Amino acid sequence: MSKKFFITTPIYYVNSVPHIGHAYTTIALDILARYKRQQGTDVHFLTGTDEHGANIEKSAAAKGVSPKEWTDDVSAQYRAMWKELNISYDDFIRTTDSMHEHVVQAVFEKLLKQGDIYKGSYSGQYCLSCEQYYDESEMLEGGLCPVHKRPLTQVHEETYFFKLSKYQDALLKFYAEHPDFLSPRFRANEIINFVKGGLRDLSVSRTKVKWGVPVLSNPAHTVYVWFDALINYISATGAGTVLCEDKTEHARHLEKLGAEKFEDFWPADLHLVGKEIFRFHAVIWPAMLMALGLPLPKKVFAHGWWTVDGEKMSKSLGNVINPVELAHQYGTDPVRAFLFREVPFGQDGDFSITSFKNRYNSDLANNIGNLLSRTLNMAAKNMAQLPETAGENTPTHARALEIEKTLDAYYQDLAFDKVLESVYAFAGDLNKLVDEKKPWELAKTDKDAACAVLLELVGGLRYIAQWLAPFMPSVAQEMQRRLSAGPIQKYPPLFPRLEEKK
Ligand code: MSP
Repeated sequence: MSKKFFITTPIYYVNSVPHIGHAYTTIALDILARYKRQQGTDVHFLTGTDEHGANIEKSAAAKGVSPKEWTDDVSAQYRAMWKELNISYDDFIRTTDSMHEHVVQAVFEKLLKQGDIYKGSYSGQYCLSCEQYYDESEMLEGGLCPVHKRPLTQVHEETYFFKLSKYQDALLKFYAEHPDFLSPRFRANEIINFVKGGLRDLSVSRTKVKWGVPVLSNPAHTVYVWFDALINYISATGAGTVLCEDKTEHARHLEKLGAEKFEDFWPADLHLVGKEIFRFHAVIWPAMLMALGLPLPKKVFAHGWWTVDGEKMSKSLGNVINPVELAHQYGTDPVRAFLFREVPFGQDGDFSITSFKNRYNSDLANNIGNLLSRTLNMAAKNMAQLPETAGENTPTHARALEIEKTLDAYYQDLAFDKVLESVYAFAGDLNKLVDEKKPWELAKTDKDAACAVLLELVGGLRYIAQWLAPFMPSVAQEMQRRLSAGPIQKYPPLFPRLEEKK
C-alpha cells in the first residue's frame, strides 16, 4: 500500500461550547480532504475529542455525572455536529480510547527510560483553566493568566519533565531546512524567535489531576493533557504497533482503517490548527517526535481567529454563534462557503449576519444561482435535452482549463478564499456572456447559435459545480444533477434570496 495523504484537525476539548470558530478548523480540513479526493488522492482525515484534565473532571462533577459519562456525551455531540456540517472525516479518536492511552503510556516510559523524561519538582504560577504554568514574563500585570485574565494559583508539585531544551538546536535546524513546515510564512518568525529565546524543559505530569492517563511506572502521576493530546496523531494511526508491547488492539485498528502499518499514514502531511495552539504543534510536538525517533510532519498550518462584531466569542458575553443553528437557518453549504470566502485563510476575521446575508445574495443567489436558473430555463425552451459533453472548443472551456491549474496552486497554499474568488469571478463572466449574447433574442433568428451559447454556459456551469463541491458538497451535487445529460426540468431556485438588512 502506498502512503496515505494524512491530515488532521486538533482534537476538540469536550469542555468548550462549540461555535463557528471551532467548526472553522474542521470545515477547512474537510474542504482540503474533499478536493484531494476529487484529484484521486488517498486521503486520511483524522479528528476527535480531547477528554482529559482537571477542568473536565470539574465540569462532570458540576453536572453530577462521572467524567466518563460526561465525555461520552460531549464527544457524541461533536460527532453529531460534524455530521450536520457535512464533515467527511475518516477516523475519530477520543483520548479516552484504551488504544490511545496505551500509546501515551508507552511513549512516556520509552522517553523516561532513555532519559528524555526525568523526575523533578516544580513551583510556579499555574492557570487551572489552561492547565499550564506561566512565568513572570508571560503573566499579565497583577499576576493574571494571559488567556483568562484571572489570578494564577501558586503550585508546588513533584513532576516529570520532558527535556525540551535539548531539542532547541535540532528544531531550529529543522525549520531552516524545511521552510514549508511553519505555515503560513508570516507566522514562522514568532515560533523561530520563541525557540531562539531558549526552551525550558516542560512539566509533563500532574499529581493533582486524577482524570488523566496514569504514568505506568508511577501511577501517583497522570500525564499532562497536552502531552497526552498531541500523541493522538500517532496513536490513531497505529503507532502502538511500533511502540507498545501488546500490539493486538493497534493492529486491529489499522485493519479497521484498511491499512497495514503505521507508515501507511505517518508522517502526517498536514496538522491544521488555530493560531493559539501553533506553539504546541510547531515546537513541543516535533521535539517529542525527535525524541521518539519518528519522522516529523510535513507541515503545520495555523489559521486565524473569528470574532463576532469585533468581540471574542464567549459564553459569558452571550455572543457565541452556533454553527449548527446557523446551518439550520441558512443551509450548511452557504455557511461553509461564507467562512472561506469572507476572510483569507490564515488571517483573523469578524463574523456578522449582515455580511453573511450580503455575500449569500451577491455570490450565491445573484451570481451562481441566477446563472444556473437562467441557463437551464433558456435551455429548456430551446432544446429537448442536455448532451453528455457541452461547450467544448469554446473560449469558456479554454478559460476553465486555465482556472483549474491556478486552483491547484491555491489549494497548495490553503488559499481557500482565492479558490472561491476565482470560481465566483468565472460565474460572473458567464453571466456577462449571457447579457452580451442575449440567447433569448438570438433564438428568434438563429436557434443553432443560441443553443451553442447555452451549451457553452452549461459546460462552464459543470466546471463550477465540480469546483464548488469541496466547499458546498450537497449544493454541488444538486447542481450536477440539474446539469446532467438528459431531459431538462423546471427547478426551484438553488439559493433563494435572503431579505437584506438595511
Ligand atoms: N484540545 C486542544 C487541541 C489539542 S490538539 C492535540 C484545543 N481544542 S479547542 O476545542 O479549544 O480548539 C479546537 C480548534 O478550534 C482549534 O484549532 C482552535 O484554534 C479553533 N478555534 C477555537 N476558537 C476559535 C475562534 N474563535 N476562531 C477560529 N478558530 C478557533 O485547542
